[in-house]
Amino acid sequence: MTRTVYVNGEYLPETEAKVSIFDRAFLMADGVYEVTSVLGGKLIDFDGHAKRLKRSLSELDIREPLTTEDLLAIHRELVARNGIEDGLVYLQITRGSPGDRDFAFPDPETCAPTVVLFTQNKPGLADSPSARTGIKVISIEDIRWGRRDIKTVQLLYPSMGKMMAKKAGCDDAWMVEDGAVTEGTSNNAYIVKGGKIITRNLSSDILHGITRAAVLRFAREAQMEVEERPFTIDEAKAADEAFVTSASAFVTPVVEIDGSAIGTGTPGRVAQRLREIYLDESRKAGV
Ligand code: PDD
Repeated sequence: MTRTVYVNGEYLPETEAKVSIFDRAFLMADGVYEVTSVLGGKLIDFDGHAKRLKRSLSELDIREPLTTEDLLAIHRELVARNGIEDGLVYLQITRGSPGDRDFAFPDPETCAPTVVLFTQNKPGLADSPSARTGIKVISIEDIRWGRRDIKTVQLLYPSMGKMMAKKAGCDDAWMVEDGAVTEGTSNNAYIVKGGKIITRNLSSDILHGITRAAVLRFAREAQMEVEERPFTIDEAKAADEAFVTSASAFVTPVVEIDGSAIGTGTPGRVAQRLREIYLDESRKAGV
């Protein structure tokens, strides 16, 4: 089945969808994105993703081209047209195509943002093997720009990080700045010590994960202790458990960091429990 995608107001077969070579995202990585998961045909945490998108656009002075209601309708239409039970919806909004290359931002009155959405079909997304086995991570230096709270499409370094991990026989990389872990290449990072969940506090150093917000809320509701502060790789190696969260990985245990087994070297109980709670509650609240 050919995938139907959305580009600037039109639903098209993916082979017919076009964006200008002068698009600011193509030339300057001048765009933002969101990834929303779909479970049982329902969008997970849609409101959270829509709110963060608004914030990313506003921080970059990109005009909001569509209302949240319009965005929800497009997400639902793509899920329906592509028959997605389990999978992802990718959304990207760029500053648009001014028709030439220039460092200065184009006039927002004459240059409309580019809006692209497509689905990724991932049957059994919530039963991934990595959730059962856990993942292995390496640590790498965090050399990204200073506004990681804005979800921009500048993903070259995170991609390089994934490749460094792959080369080392691992699944992902945790990035480290000034001795402390910031986040994973495409997820937020956590450790568990003595029953306490520790994760870096929110600032412009990390993306404010939508899954992070939900998981920490559920953890607190379940009377688990949460501490939001930076932690080091040494602290992580000595932890009882480690895990990551994201819209595509939900809660995924980390069983090894830089070759050192974490705890028993198998998925931890806190991570497994949080994954169950997150999936149960999110499925119930899906739209
Ligand atoms: N990545 N940190 C980074 C650097 C990320 O790229 C992501 C998400 C997260 C987790 O955020 P959320 O819980 O809102 O998904 C944290 C998405 C899934 C991606 O790039 O595919």
